[in-house]
Amino acid sequence: MQQEPPGSLVDYLRQSRVALALASAHGDNHLLMVNAPFSALTGYTAEDVVGRNCRLLQREAPNAQPRARLREFLAQPDQTNVRTPIVNFRKDGTPFVNLLYMSRLRSIDGRSDFIFASQFDVSRSQPEMLAEYDEQLRATLGRLVPIAGEAGIVVEGTLLTIANSAAIVAQAKMMLSDLESAPGA
Ligand SMILES: Cc1cc2nc3c(=O)[nH]c(=O)nc-3n(C[C@H](O)[C@H](O)[C@H](O)COP(=O)(O)O)c2cc1C
Repeated sequence: MQQEPPGSLVDYLRQSRVALALASAHGDNHLLMVNAPFSALTGYTAEDVVGRNCRLLQREAPNAQPRARLREFLAQPDQTNVRTPIVNFRKDGTPFVNLLYMSRLRSIDGRSDFIFASQFDVSRSQPEMLAEYDEQLRATLGRLVPIAGEAGIVVEGTLLTIANSAAIVAQAKMMLSDLESAPGA
C-alpha cells in the first residue's frame, strides 16, 4: 500500500488559504501533512501533529455525536464526505467550534487512499465569513480535481452549499459560550 501522497498534491494543498490536512485512510488515520492556515488556526505546527491522529484537538471534549458521524464516514468507503461542527482546542487551550469537512481521495489503481480535511472556526465567525470560507474551500476542491487527476487520484464528494450560515454560526457561538461558562473552564 502506497502511503505517501504525490508531491504535486501536497504542494498544492500547502499554498491554499484555507486550513487543510491530509491523513492516511488506513490504520488510525495518522496525519501526513497540514498547511500553514491549519497551524494558524490550531496553534499546532506540522512537526507537532504529523504522524498523529487529529483527534488530539478534541482533548477531553466528549463530542459523542460528531465523532460518531466522523467514524461512520471513515468506516464506510461508499460515503464520499462528511461535515460537522466539533469542539476543539487550540494548542494554548482556547476552545473553538471547528466546522470540519472531510472527503476521500482515492487512487484509480486502488493502491492508496487519503482523507482530505478542512477546518474552520465557526464559533468566532460571522455568517459572511463562513460563506467566504465556503467559497474558498469550494475553489480549492475544484482546482484539486485536475491536479489530483494528473497523479491518478480521484477527489470524491462535492461540497454542498451551506443552506443557512447564520444558523450554523449562531449555534456554534452558543456551544462556545456554554463551554466557556462550564465549571472548570
Ligand atoms: C484528515 C483528517 C483530519 C481531521 N481533522 C480533525 C480536526 O481538525 N478536529 C477533530 O476534532 N477531528 C479531526 N479528525 C477526526 C479524528 O481524527 C477522528 O477521526 C474522529 O475523532 C473520530 O474518531 P474517534 O472517535 O476514534 O476519535 C480528522 C480526521 C482526519 C482523517
